[in-house]
Amino acid sequence: MNKESKRITIAIDGHSSCGKSTMAKDLARKIGYIYIDSGAMYRCCTLFAMREGLIAPDGTIDEASFQNRMSEIQVTFKLNAESGRPDTYLNGQCVEQEIRTMEVSSHVSPVAALPFVRAAMTAQQQAMGKEGGIVMDGRDIGTAVFPDAEMKIFVTASDEIRAQRRFDELKAKGQEANFDEVLANLRERDRIDSTRSVAPLRKADDALVLDNSHMTIEEQNEWLLDRFHELTK
Ligand code: DC
Repeated sequence: MNKESKRITIAIDGHSSCGKSTMAKDLARKIGYIYIDSGAMYRCCTLFAMREGLIAPDGTIDEASFQNRMSEIQVTFKLNAESGRPDTYLNGQCVEQEIRTMEVSSHVSPVAALPFVRAAMTAQQQAMGKEGGIVMDGRDIGTAVFPDAEMKIFVTASDEIRAQRRFDELKAKGQEANFDEVLANLRERDRIDSTRSVAPLRKADDALVLDNSHMTIEEQNEWLLDRFHELTK
């Protein structure tokens, strides 16, 4: 089989709100691959725990009950014909809007640090990607989920630029947002994501780095597509 016909695995990792999903979705659409937003899966686990009263208002997680109920969480993605993008489903219900709220964002990193949550989501992600032909974005895709991925990208941008992007995104969706809160939340998530003991956020040794602080969406998409063509030519 030559390289061109082989459907490879593409791992895109990086900090919160650095445009990973925008570039991953665009690349997947252009090359006809499946796109999976692994962060959405951790957001679904968080939403499930919030709905089931497993996270107290002060943020304390009832870990024992949560672990017992992990097998009840099934995350799937379905293409939204109108937007042309995949929507996230938690146990068959579309939760695409709900998982993007500040409330979910403020609880998701501690949830994603729980080893039993990571084990369950990693297994679901590996099952989705076992045939290749997939672009998955997240924090540990190139290091833990698909360490053998043929293409690995590590994306980053300055804190302020990332916070502004998230703030604009929330505003565009008509959600309440305060810039300083968004910035503080993003820094706190980066801290927890990078220092947790299981599969922390870090650049894989063989990943290419993309700092898109001063790039337009078109420029970053073009850069990514060029890397893909270089690798598969
Ligand atoms: O990409 P995002 O902001 O939607 O991710 C939500 C949270 O999930 C983020 O704080 C880190 C966590 N996450 C993770 O631990 N591992 C992944 N592969 C993806 C996301």
